Amino acid sequence: MVIDHTGETVIVTGAGRGIGREIAYHFADAGADVVAAARTESEIEETVAGIEERGSTGLAVPTDLREPAEIVALVDAATDHFGTLDVLVNNAAVHVAGDPLSRSVEDIDAMLGVNLRGVFLLSQAFANAVIDGDGSGGSIVNISSIVGHLSVPAMPVYCGTKAGVYGLTRGLAGELAHHGINVNAVSPGLTRVERIERLLEEKGELYEIDAIPLGRLGEPEDIANAVLYLTSDLASYVTGVDLPVDGGAVRTSVLYRDQYLSE
Ligand SMILES: NC(=O)c1ccc[n+]([C@@H]2O[C@H](COP(=O)([O-])OP(=O)(O)OC[C@H]3O[C@@H](n4cnc5c(N)ncnc54)[C@H](OP(=O)(O)O)[C@@H]3O)[C@@H](O)[C@H]2O)c1
Repeated sequence: MVIDHTGETVIVTGAGRGIGREIAYHFADAGADVVAAARTESEIEETVAGIEERGSTGLAVPTDLREPAEIVALVDAATDHFGTLDVLVNNAAVHVAGDPLSRSVEDIDAMLGVNLRGVFLLSQAFANAVIDGDGSGGSIVNISSIVGHLSVPAMPVYCGTKAGVYGLTRGLAGELAHHGINVNAVSPGLTRVERIERLLEEKGELYEIDAIPLGRLGEPEDIANAVLYLTSDLASYVTGVDLPVDGGAVRTSVLYRDQYLSE
């Protein structure tokens, strides 16, 4: 069975680069029309060009997810252009790491504003549009992170927002099920995007790779494949889950390896 999203309209936030762009391209390959949202217009325009090369229709809507009015305008632009909406992927996030004893209020607000408030407000606007639409229901996928399940150095606020994303996912899944809207999360492990490539260049191979049972970093398409599945008919009876896509990292530990294995 091939995953087919022909005729569907999908909003992807943070679609200007990284995982979000790959998700947008995967939906385009599966036949969907895609609304690409982020702040940097040139990047989402480039994503739209890629969507159209794949034979689908794209729409770039510059959006700052910290601004409630821009969130409403994004959903309005998508419905005005395409009619009904089918899928929302809340992928955009802000990640600021550093000494937890000196985090600024601006950094904290940026992470809370995009990673939690933005995710909720856009889900709310999308759900209302789906409910007012053609009655065929819809699907939301929130991109969380395995660090939402862990304690990771230098990022307690980011970890908190990603744990919160799963909390929102569960909460919304319960609330929206009777409107025919499934809500799930995908939690990537370390995934090869430009900023991670830069980190690899600066630091050499990262020690985390040792702790990934499947022995490699994630690729953006690993995450996009999981999103495509969760928003497809194959997952029509799945809601409220958080699917880690991390090569097994979050459910395994190397803590006692040296103690019990001789080599
Ligand atoms: N890469 C990883 O290793 C990894 C691991 C675990 C989880 N994740 C999660 O996966 C998702 C994508 O990560 P990524 O690595 O692909 O991120 P990225 O390359 O840093 O891209 C982030 C995207 O979010 C957009 N964005 C940031 N602030 C925004 C705002 N205020 N309004 C609208 N859009 C905004 C950015 O565009 P503008 O700056 O132009 O607005 C950009 O398109 C995130 O939720 C991240 O937490 C990533």
